[in-house]
Amino acid sequence: MPQNDNVKIAPATGKLGVLTPGVGAVTTTFVAGLEAIKRGLGQPVGSLTQLATIRLGKRTDGRTPLVKDFVPLAEVNDLVCGGWDVFPDTAYEAALKAGVLERTLLDEVQEPLKALRPMPAVFDPAYVRRLDGPHVKKGASKMELAEALVADIESFRRSSGASRLVMVWCGSTEVFQRPAAVHQTVEDFEAGLAASSQDIAPSQIYAYAALRCGVPFANGAPNLTVDIPALQEMARERDVPIAGKDFKTGQTFLKTLIAPGLKARMLGLTGWFSTNILGNRDGEVLDDPASFKTKEESKLSVLEHILQPQLYPSLYEDFHHIVRINYYPPRGDAKEGWDNIDIFGWLGYPMQIKVDFLCRDSILAAPIVLDLVLFLDLAQRAGMRGIQEWLSFYFKSPMTAPELYPEHDIFIQLMKLKNTLRWMRGEDLITHLGLEYYD
Ligand SMILES: NC(=O)c1ccc[n+]([C@@H]2O[C@H](COP(=O)([O-])OP(=O)(O)OC[C@H]3O[C@@H](n4cnc5c(N)ncnc54)[C@H](O)[C@@H]3O)[C@@H](O)[C@H]2O)c1
Repeated sequence: MPQNDNVKIAPATGKLGVLTPGVGAVTTTFVAGLEAIKRGLGQPVGSLTQLATIRLGKRTDGRTPLVKDFVPLAEVNDLVCGGWDVFPDTAYEAALKAGVLERTLLDEVQEPLKALRPMPAVFDPAYVRRLDGPHVKKGASKMELAEALVADIESFRRSSGASRLVMVWCGSTEVFQRPAAVHQTVEDFEAGLAASSQDIAPSQIYAYAALRCGVPFANGAPNLTVDIPALQEMARERDVPIAGKDFKTGQTFLKTLIAPGLKARMLGLTGWFSTNILGNRDGEVLDDPASFKTKEESKLSVLEHILQPQLYPSLYEDFHHIVRINYYPPRGDAKEGWDNIDIFGWLGYPMQIKVDFLCRDSILAAPIVLDLVLFLDLAQRAGMRGIQEWLSFYFKSPMTAPELYPEHDIFIQLMKLKNTLRWMRGEDLITHLGLEYYD
């Protein structure tokens, strides 16, 4: 352990296995991207772990190593991937159907993509109503299904030769769910699994299996999943890091860039109307009002927390915030998101901002998956457990301790992330005070 580290970080030796429930657009874009990067066919654009630097000490010190040279992360070359899906398509077939990456690129990495055959899923159509696939496990109870996932995880660990694993939920958005009695304690949850409680979602069965196996878990969807006391208690008891929820990619990413700027300059807001057209399978699933409700809650919470209308009623009280997603097949994964932002300035004079973001959802999500895998593995090797708030940077609805409100401002999130890395390595935290330069 280097002399000044605050925590002992075990080295990243051996392979790191990545397990994804869901082998759809995001997963296949991530896996194909990894293989392309391993072969020098592309760059990991959008990945903080691969491209960002971190400033250490004073601005005059000139110390800005790459993040990946500063903390001991697993290498991209050491990642091996596996997953589950309700469709038996290999990652190659699924990537072709998702239509995100070009066929010529997919053909260059077809060998590893064809080798990724999803394991049969734990699935319940009551939780994702627009999907029904044939590749699903059967079990007498939800506990039996959890045991089957534990067996899958352990067999992947053996067959891949991975010395450590991380699980990232890249499956569909489930119907809206509130915490219920069965989610309160580990005992309640396990009794619920044994009794096949309808309140336990498939994503929660995967998360439970991951935690049972000591595997860190990140939730890429807005599903409730690990955001319940029972699974958080289990994560702490078993020293497993968890993070969520809902990858912060397109429109919400921009919202958390623009809203802090408006607030910083004390400009008011009367309304923010956001609409999207999206034609991939995610869009099809979100066409069901019950799944959309889960997404809507996640997208809506952002502005309230950033703008703090309770502190600034004259600027932000009762602003209108509307979010719509329309399933529009011709667009495929190439989503278009429009924002109309009604703001006001000096003496209340109104102004408008219009944003038209022609984004590619999975292109934005893939580097987030990579960073979460590498950082959750780092956290586990550093002995960090339970909710990893410093990873809020990656999520639309960051998980926090129950008594805290989440930080949505992306610049605060970035500072939190980098200060956590500095803290791990015993470097001074950066406060941006700066008076010492003028003494
Ligand atoms: N792409 C983005 O920018 C982005 C951003 C935030 C959140 N997300 C979320 O990430 C998730 C994945 O997005 P996507 O675009 O890859 O969607 P997708 O529909 O292409 O892929 C999801 C896959 O999960 C599978 N699936 C559903 N339930 C499952 C289960 N119980 N077990 C195993 N597999 C299951 C589906 O069959 C599908 O193949 C979605 O929940 C989406 O809302 C995506």
